[in-house]
Amino acid sequence: MLTPFNPPHHPGLFIVFEGVEGSGKTTQIDRLETWLPTVQPAPVVCTREPGGTELGSQVRSLLLDAKNHDPIVDRAELLLFAADRAQHVDQLIRPKLELGAIVLCDRFTTSTIAYQGYGRGLDVSMIQNLNAIATAGLVPDLTIWLDLDPAVGLRRAHDRGMINRMDGESLEFHRRVRHGYCAVAAELAQRGDRLWRIDASATVDSITRDLQAVILRLVNHKQNL
Ligand code: TYD
Repeated sequence: MLTPFNPPHHPGLFIVFEGVEGSGKTTQIDRLETWLPTVQPAPVVCTREPGGTELGSQVRSLLLDAKNHDPIVDRAELLLFAADRAQHVDQLIRPKLELGAIVLCDRFTTSTIAYQGYGRGLDVSMIQNLNAIATAGLVPDLTIWLDLDPAVGLRRAHDRGMINRMDGESLEFHRRVRHGYCAVAAELAQRGDRLWRIDASATVDSITRDLQAVILRLVNHKQNL
C-alpha cells in the first residue's frame, strides 16, 4: 500500500508533512530528525515551506507577518507561495535528493491546494498547474497528513502564542482547509496512495511510533530498489 508512486529519479527520499495549524508536524519532524540517523546511513535534511531558503525566508515574512503591509490579495498570496516553492525545490530539495538525502519537509504542494484552493476558494485545477510549474515535476515519495480537528489545532497554536496571519483566519476558513486535505486524500487514494493519514489527536509518542514504522518501510523499500 505505501509503495512510492513514482519511479525514483533520484537516490534520495522526499517525505512531506501536512496538516492544519497545531497538528504537531514540527514536533514529529524534530523527533524523526533525531531518530533517522540511528536506523539508516543517509543524511537527513529538515526544511519547511514557506521559508526553506534565504529568498524563502523573506517571502515567508511577507506572507505571514500581518502588520508589514497592505492586505495581500488571494492571487498574490498564491504566487508568493509558488515563488517560495520554486526557489526551494531548485536550490535545496532537489540537490539534496540527488545526493541521496532523506528530506523531511514541513508543508508542500498539498498546503496550497488546501489553503489557497479550499480555504480561499481559488480554482484548484489552476493551483495544480501552478504547483507543477513551481516543483518542475518533483513529487514527494510520501505525504504524511496529520489530521486534526481545526478547533483543537487552533487552540493549541493560540496556547503556544504562535499566531501568524493565516492562524488569524476564522475557524470556518480552517474547516475548509481540512476539507481540502480530505478531498486531496480521497483523490490520491484512487491514484496510488501517496498520501497517508494519521490521527493527530493520538498521543505524541504513539504518532511517533506509527511514523517510524511507515518511514522505515519506505527506507527499506528504497534501499532494495
Ligand atoms: P507556519 O508558521 O509554518 O505554520 P505551521 O506550523 O502550521 O506549518 O506557517 C505556514 C502557514 O502558511 C500555514 O498557516 C499554512 C500556510 N501555507 C499556505 O497557506 N499555503 C502554502 O502553500 C503553504 C506552504 C503554507
